[in-house]
Amino acid sequence: MCGIVGVTGGTEVLPNLLDSLGRLEYRGYDSAGVVLGAAGLPLWRRRRAFGTKSLADLAADTGTAPPEATWGLGHVRWATHGRPSETNAHPHTDCSGRLALVHNGIIENYLELGDHLSALGHQMASETDTEVLAHLIEQRMSEGAGLEDAVANSMTELRGAFALAVVHADEPGLIVAARRVSPLVLGRTEGSAMVASDIPALLGKADEFFVLDDDQLAVVRPGSIVVTDSNRNEIPLQPRVVEWDLQAAERGGFDDFMSKEIHEQPTAIADTLLGRLLPSAGSPPAYRALHLDEERLSDEELRAVDKVFVVACGSSFHAGLVAKHAIEHWARLPVEIDVASEFRYRDPVLDSNTLVVAISQSGETVDTLQAARSAAAQRAKVLAVTNVVDSSMARESDAVLYTRAGPEIGVAATKTHLTQIIALEILALYLAQVRGLFYPSELAMLLGALGSLPEKVARAIERGGEVEAVAQRLAGVRNFFFLGRHVGYPVALEGALKLKEISYLRAEGYPAGELKHGPIALIEPGSVVVAVATRTPLWEKVLSNVAEVRARGATVVLVANEGDDETAALADEVLWVPAADSPLLAPVIDVVPLQLLAYHLARAHGNDVDRPRNLAKTVTVE
Ligand code: AGP
Repeated sequence: MCGIVGVTGGTEVLPNLLDSLGRLEYRGYDSAGVVLGAAGLPLWRRRRAFGTKSLADLAADTGTAPPEATWGLGHVRWATHGRPSETNAHPHTDCSGRLALVHNGIIENYLELGDHLSALGHQMASETDTEVLAHLIEQRMSEGAGLEDAVANSMTELRGAFALAVVHADEPGLIVAARRVSPLVLGRTEGSAMVASDIPALLGKADEFFVLDDDQLAVVRPGSIVVTDSNRNEIPLQPRVVEWDLQAAERGGFDDFMSKEIHEQPTAIADTLLGRLLPSAGSPPAYRALHLDEERLSDEELRAVDKVFVVACGSSFHAGLVAKHAIEHWARLPVEIDVASEFRYRDPVLDSNTLVVAISQSGETVDTLQAARSAAAQRAKVLAVTNVVDSSMARESDAVLYTRAGPEIGVAATKTHLTQIIALEILALYLAQVRGLFYPSELAMLLGALGSLPEKVARAIERGGEVEAVAQRLAGVRNFFFLGRHVGYPVALEGALKLKEISYLRAEGYPAGELKHGPIALIEPGSVVVAVATRTPLWEKVLSNVAEVRARGATVVLVANEGDDETAALADEVLWVPAADSPLLAPVIDVVPLQLLAYHLARAHGNDVDRPRNLAKTVTVE
């Protein structure tokens, strides 16, 4: 977890660091810190630990920062080892205070290393795994290595995950950065250079962007970046194309990123479909075929696939549940699905004809990344569905299907979740297409249905005012049940997850038919049940399950298709949505009012929707 940034060169080092940290806050915000270097002066360090106010508090306390600073590092933390406190906040220093570093990841052998270094006389000030690194590098320097070699030598002794950046008061302008597992990107202009945990932190500041790979080390100086591999051989730099602009990473007039990102969903879906549905000649044009532009697996290889595994976490896992329905139904392939943190520990049976679909908006979630790596080690073909170009998962997989949602800053996934479902539906249809399972007219109908989704999602968002009114009437409720069946079940799970993570309200998602096998004992007058009751294949059965909870006094909120008075008659509150043109596409529309319900309930409770407590957007620890 955590976000790191480093800047060298130019006169605006501190404002640049603080600005980038603001863009990295979604990775963690229980503390924030910076260190600055100015030639001939000791390092200047400030750290603050005031929860979501840490960065603002830090920025307000920089009056004594050296104005002549020309290089520095910054960090926003999501605590793993050691409680959130100023002492545990980064940057951490060595015994002399002349070396400082920031780190994202977990050093698994920190206790062992710490004991060894303490025995050599090093004094640890914090409870973190990170501080051990500062002392380890100090130790190697005391044995004669320069900063660069000391970092490289230390890397060989580390177990676990790290992206780190190190500075030393005796090395003006130099930042040494390295990574294993945790992401690290680099940026350069003529007179400056930067390192950061992700691209948005560098947007508008760099002319060229580069990605550091596992076990690589970067020597970063103003206007210059030299990258070496684990054998210290220099690697030629390959600039990456970054299409995101700064505005895309800012709030654009909305109160918060989550509402901006919910409103961006129609465009995000349209962008994700762009170029992938091929129109037929004729007027009006209809869609006739699918095209996957970033595929690195041939149609022949896809035709040979006889089993699909889906691995993902959180909202990405819920998108994966929709994919299971779509791939089984359209492509007639068996699909297994696992939360990624369980997958590699249960000995799944894979071979070279298995397609493993790893879904991750960030492309860096360590559980999913490691699941994909263990699948690749068993010769399975790995296809990543991710929103981040050049993320670890994108680079390491056999094929990648990008969602084109643009940067998502709010911790709660919204537009990336919808575009994941779109990408996965495209994949399912593509598999069916290469397996020759569609009549052209059937495929054209489904592609047309996909093409109509941006407009339908926009209509669902336009009804936000009605959802807000429902949220206000439910603002006093603390326990919610979310029910759905078939593709409505992942929608229910996603609705419950959104509510939990930003409202801190108890919300359980169940397959509606399972309720009578136990959970219905919890239903009593006053319980609120939200059910996905759009016209998907098991609609009638959902209504029967709704009747069962109604009979026990529950307040019923139904997601229903516009004009469906028969369904609305069973509800105390209705969340109206347009009907999808194909049942398997319904989750893309039906989840929208549940995002909005969670959003408005969270606001009614006075919560910070973009930065919910205890969470970080990208989970880079196991
Ligand atoms: C979603 O709202 C959550 N913040 C979380 O469950 C998220 O989906 C999960 O951590 C997976 O992240 P990824 O898609 O970046 O892998």
